[in-house]
Parts: sequence; structure tokens; C-alpha cells
Amino acid sequence: MIVARDYKSFIEARSKLNGSVGFVPTMGALHEGHLSLIKKSISQNSATVVSVFVNPTQFLAGEDLNKYPRPESADIKICELAKVDILYMPTIEQMYNSDELKISAPKIRGYILEGANRPGHFDGVLQVVMKLLNIVKPTNAYFGKKDAQQLILIEQMVKDYFIDTNIVACDIVREPDGLAMSSRNIYLSPNQRIRALSISKALKRGVKMVQSGIYDTNQIKDTIRDVIEPEVDTIEYIAITDRRLKEINSIKLDDTIILIAVKIGSTRLIDNIWI
Ligand code: PAF
Repeated sequence: MIVARDYKSFIEARSKLNGSVGFVPTMGALHEGHLSLIKKSISQNSATVVSVFVNPTQFLAGEDLNKYPRPESADIKICELAKVDILYMPTIEQMYNSDELKISAPKIRGYILEGANRPGHFDGVLQVVMKLLNIVKPTNAYFGKKDAQQLILIEQMVKDYFIDTNIVACDIVREPDGLAMSSRNIYLSPNQRIRALSISKALKRGVKMVQSGIYDTNQIKDTIRDVIEPEVDTIEYIAITDRRLKEINSIKLDDTIILIAVKIGSTRLIDNIWI
């Protein structure tokens, strides 16, 4: 595996890759969820590139960029063992100039749900993903459904800007007890972790309701609220939308996402299920 820490050495290593190239962009602190994207890319492409870059522009003022975990040698080891071809770890100086041209997230879909909580966050995500796709020029790029809104906005950007990369949506990876994998799970105490199981339990309850013929989204949201409310400290949102993130009143099979964001203690957790 080549570890490229600057643009020039990345481009040199990239020029030696033949056939289809799969790309998994990350901010590091790699866990099973990332590994499943990497494995998928490796199984579907001739070569795989992973990037580790803690992108400053997707952090808002007051969010502590410096506290973001950076277990660099563990990330390198994980990629090496997974048989990644190139690990790209650029510096901030290489990725950004002063007074840059900006990419903006769409005014509605970029500012609801996660975007309501973190206005401007998706501008930064799209900006860096655009840069990375242009640098790596992958055939396929892999994103998790856990960050559903991010995935949907990236799909839109690729379409709107005619970027020649296929975006592959990957299923959420869960712990055996149902908790969605996240770098934030380590911040949960044993008791908080048990309470966090209410989130996946509530999503499953929602699916069961749909399976039993209940399509009224308000009824489903009320049930979900009843399951999680006693267990979490704050419910930020329970939303049922179509795959363009528009709120819907009635479930549309194969075109619905149930999304939840909560806080347990100071840890913010998101999860969703695609129906
Ligand atoms: O999902 C992430 O880890 C980040 O938002 C991404 C896509 C790597 C952009 O920095």
C-alpha cells in the first residue's frame, strides 16, 4: 500500500492504477462501518483508494475540530491489512486555498434535518467531496446510508455537476445488538449504550408497522417517539421522508426513509432505515 501525503505523490501513485478504481473517502478513526465500505470497494474494483482527511470546512464555529480523533497509525494499519492500494492523507494546506470558490448545498435539502442542526455543514462536505472526486477520479465512490442526507446530497452534486463517478450507497453496519456503528459510540457509558438500543428498536418497530399495513407516517412517528422518549435525553428529530428528503404523510414503498437524531448525555446519535 502506498501512503500518499501530498497531491504530487498521490497523482503519481494513481497513474499506476489500472482498471476500475473504487474510492472510500473518510475522516479517519476507521471502524467496522468504514471497513465494510472498503471491502465492498475492493470486491467491486481493480484497485481501491481510501482518503483520510479531517475536513475543517464541515465543522461549524464552536465545533471542536481539534478534538476529532486522529488515530493515524491504526488507520494506516487497517487499510494495509484490508489491502487498500493507495491511502491518501493530505494536509489542510494542500486541500484549501484562501478565498476559495465555494460549493453550496441546496437551500432546502441542505438545511433541514442534519443541516438544520449544523447550518453550512453540507457546504463543507460537498466542497471536500468535489475536490476528492476530482483528485482521485474514481470509477465508483462508496458512501454509507447511515449519513443518509450526506449520501443524497452527494448523489445530487454528482448529477448536477456531471461528475463521472458512480456513487454506491452502502447499507448501515450494526453491532450484533442493533446499534448502528459510529465513531461516537465509544463516548457512551455502558448504561447509555443500553439506552441507545432504543433507536434501532424504534426503527424496527416502524418497519413492523409498515409490514402490518400502517402507512400513516404520523402514527408511525408517534410510536417511534414512545419507544425512544423514555431512553434518550433529547430527541432532535424523528422524520419520515421520501428519498429526496421531502416529508411524507403516507409511506411510499421503496421510496421512504425513517430518520432519527437524538442525544444521550452529550453524545449525538443518528440512525435511519430505508423502506
Ligand atoms: O462522512 C464522512 O466521513 C465525511 O463527511 C466525508 C464524506 C469523508 C467528507 O469529509
